[in-house]
Amino acid sequence: MSNHLNDITLKIWRQAGPNERGRFETYLIDQISDEASFLEMLDILNERLITEGREPVTFDHDCREGICGTCSLMINGQAHGPQKSTATCQLHMRKFQSGDQIVIEPWRASAFPIIKDLMVNRSAFDRIIEAGGFITAPTGGAPDANLIPIPKPVSDAAMDSAECIGCGACVAACPNGAANLFTAAKISHLNLLPQGQAERYSRVEAMVETMDDYFGSCTNHGECEAACPKSISIDVIALMNKDYRKAKFKNRKTSARAD
Ligand code: FES
Repeated sequence: MSNHLNDITLKIWRQAGPNERGRFETYLIDQISDEASFLEMLDILNERLITEGREPVTFDHDCREGICGTCSLMINGQAHGPQKSTATCQLHMRKFQSGDQIVIEPWRASAFPIIKDLMVNRSAFDRIIEAGGFITAPTGGAPDANLIPIPKPVSDAAMDSAECIGCGACVAACPNGAANLFTAAKISHLNLLPQGQAERYSRVEAMVETMDDYFGSCTNHGECEAACPKSISIDVIALMNKDYRKAKFKNRKTSARAD
């Protein structure tokens, strides 16, 4: 494969802290290989800034292989950039042309306050998971894989939901700053499986209501599905809404019986 060297202008959001005023700063990154990943390009920029005695750009990253969900950049107005179903860390500079200008911003959502530069605080997601994104049934030792038979379409649907890496692109892309795709994916991957049934209705009620405490409401724009690096379908939101309606009825009966 040919290795082209490109000159790119970067306009990057710089913000010293959560309560500081932010601004765009412009950097020229010249002779960047089109085989470099987007985050490698930012590493090279930071090495140059450090060499010049300037403050490097703060950005989140960890696995760099599309698993951890920490790389959260708005690139030219698109969450994770121009390549569909791709996290920022899996984007390469060959997606851009020499002479391009790339605008890089943090996620913009009131539930994700900026910590510094391009890094945001996504702990509101943790609050949703803490509310019910787990099972508490004793699982004992490692069971045989086939001990609980699960129909293939059900396990496929649960695994599709479990692909969510919690990056927050769905929230950043949503005009309402809603977290319905994230919450629905986390609920569905447990609620579809036999192991998730015992807490199915308490889980959905707690997670949806915690989500509502932090995030905006879904009005079916569908931007979340388009931005999701794992192509999670908004069908999971319909499943969550159906379970939530059932939960409000079932949990009311359960608490009435307990009184
Ligand atoms: S750095 Fe882990 S998903 Fe991108």
